[in-house]
Amino acid sequence: NIAYVNGEFVALEEATVSIEDRGFQFGDSIYEIIKLYNGKLFKLEDHIQRLFNSAHQIRLDLDYSKEELKELTQQVLEKNKNSERKEAGGLYIQITRGAAPRSHSFSSDLEPTVIMYLLPAKKIESEIREEGVTAITMPEQRWQHCNIKTNNLLPNILTSHRAKKEGADEGIFVTEEGMVTEGTSSNVFIVNNDKILTHPADGEILPGITRELVLELAADKFNVQEKKFSLKELYQADEVFITSTPKEVLGVIEVDDKQIAQGEVGPITKEIHKLYQNYIE
Ligand code: PDD
Repeated sequence: NIAYVNGEFVALEEATVSIEDRGFQFGDSIYEIIKLYNGKLFKLEDHIQRLFNSAHQIRLDLDYSKEELKELTQQVLEKNKNSERKEAGGLYIQITRGAAPRSHSFSSDLEPTVIMYLLPAKKIESEIREEGVTAITMPEQRWQHCNIKTNNLLPNILTSHRAKKEGADEGIFVTEEGMVTEGTSSNVFIVNNDKILTHPADGEILPGITRELVLELAADKFNVQEKKFSLKELYQADEVFITSTPKEVLGVIEVDDKQIAQGEVGPITKEIHKLYQNYIE
C-alpha cells in the first residue's frame, strides 16, 4: 500500500508525520473517506468540495486546487494499481494545519500536512444486510465533554486565534445561557465584594490543576465558591483572573473592551499569585 505524504509517495509502514503536527496535538485537521467502486472513486467531486468547505471553515489555506487534489487521488490509485487497489474499500484523505511549535493560536503561513492512502474494504455481509442492525440513543453531547483533557481542541484553537486577531490574550467561553465557563486554555475566576467565584468542576470545564490549588490556597483567607457566574457578572467584577499551568495566576484587566478593576491587576489577584509562588518555593 503506497501512501501519499506531503509531496511524496512512500510505503504505508514508512509514512510518518511530525509529533508536532497540529492534527495530532489539537485535532486541527479535516478529512474525507471516498468509496472505491470498481476502481473508481465514488462522488469524488462532492468529497473534494466538502473537504474545501471544511478547510474554509477552519481557516486552513490549501496550496492545492481542487483539480490538483483530484489529480493526486488518481496518482494514489495508479501507484497502487497492482497491489491492494482491488481489495481497497476507499481512499482516506487527511489535511492538517501542519507542524509548528505547540501553541493554541496558529499563523496562516503553516505548510498543511496532506496525506492520502487506501483503506481496506469493510464489507457488510449480506446476512447482516438482510437482518438489519440495532441501535441505541444517547443525549446529543458531542463536545459537552470539556472535563476530558482531549486533543480535540478545534473550538479552543479557533477561539484563541480569534482572540489574538482581535488583540486579546485569551478567549473566554460563554454558554448559550450567558454563563461563563472557562478560557481556551485556562480557568476563569472573578472577585466580587471579596467573594471569589469560579465555575464548578463539572463537564462544562476542564478541572484545572492550578484552579484546584488556587481554591485550596485562597480558602484560608477568602470566601471562595465554585459557582457559575454570568457574562454580566464578569463585566462587573472587581477583579478577574485566569489560571493554568503555564500562566499560574494571571490578572485580566479588560474583557470585550470593558475595563476591569480600572485596568489594573487587582490586589486579591496579586495576593493569590503570591500564595501560589510561596507554595511552589
Ligand atoms: N491547558 N481549561 C482548559 C481548556 C485548558 O486547556 C487548561 C490548560 C486549563 C488549566 O488547566 P491546568 O491548570 O491544569 O493547566 C483550563 C494547557 C496548559 C494547554 O493546553 O496549553
